[in-house]
Amino acid sequence: MYTTRWIAPSNIAIVKYWGKFDHQIPANPSLSFTLTHSHTDTKLTVIESKTTQNDDPTLEVFYDGISKPEFQPKILKFLQAILNEYPWLKGKLLKIETKNTFPHSSGIASSASGMAALACCIEDLHATYFVGQPFRWHKASESARLGSGSACRSVYGGFVQWGHSSDGEGSDFFATPVQEVHPNFKTIYDYILILDSGEKSVSSTVGHSLMKNHPYASHRFKQGKENTVKLKAILKTGDWRRFIELMESEALTLHAMMMTSTPPFILMKPKTLEAIQKIWQFRQTTNLPIGFTLDAGANLHLIFTADALEAVEQKLLPEVQYLCEQNTIIKDLIGRGPFKAD
Ligand code: PMV
Repeated sequence: MYTTRWIAPSNIAIVKYWGKFDHQIPANPSLSFTLTHSHTDTKLTVIESKTTQNDDPTLEVFYDGISKPEFQPKILKFLQAILNEYPWLKGKLLKIETKNTFPHSSGIASSASGMAALACCIEDLHATYFVGQPFRWHKASESARLGSGSACRSVYGGFVQWGHSSDGEGSDFFATPVQEVHPNFKTIYDYILILDSGEKSVSSTVGHSLMKNHPYASHRFKQGKENTVKLKAILKTGDWRRFIELMESEALTLHAMMMTSTPPFILMKPKTLEAIQKIWQFRQTTNLPIGFTLDAGANLHLIFTADALEAVEQKLLPEVQYLCEQNTIIKDLIGRGPFKAD
């Protein structure tokens, strides 16, 4: 019996991944930062079982101590995708005990942190017990990608790129950390305004596939490629105005893609627009480095640098908190990435 436990945070994309080819190859590169508090904590126990070596692993999945057979198909599909890299998984019984620090449907990608945590557990057991070699971060990232595309970025801390860009950097197969980041962006916050905690009306699987026959797809992919290179230059120089301009354009373009797909989806709610107006007004009057991004849902991610922390806490939150369900705001910030627990 072998066991390990890893904690992996979620991430928030500034340049969005929306549209993919077979085997989880992204249509354009994306760039995110990894969070701190919003994470998944996963314990993996590998038990010898009586099935033959050629069989798929069998699973027991517990979320917060409760058996969750409904989680098995997605995890099994992920394990099947990485069996070539980790053949020792064949025929084993895997007990997966997992929990998140953040609520479901909160606008935080649990698939990103969940798949990153599981991929790190598997790479760790592989490195420690099955081959006796150092932990390979890029392999953990590559596996996580096969579970959920954006999960590959959660294997690293700080700002992270996934997908090759025209400057010759990045890979479509695994994520890589962005090396040069100006001190202005070393501490960056993500406060998630829970404006609507209902189920998303479009899953990312459906969303990616809607880009296949989308009339604006090729322009969007070109823009995503250009924005990845532009964002890295901005991260180097520390120009927060250009950072916010690019970030908000990416978020609104993601939603514009959904609104103009067939069938169309409108994921923003009236409160999302109200909160955006408040943020824009606040930025105009204070000239502080505060902007927003959105994932494929209604909740707004308020993104700001350390210079704006006090003003956000004291002046902006009282103006937007009443819009949030049960006044809920999840407060997070950039972090260092996954680590082994215990
Ligand atoms: O990793 P997926 O397949 O859940 O897709 C994530 C898509 C977005 O969250 C909308 C954007 C991104 O790059 O994280």
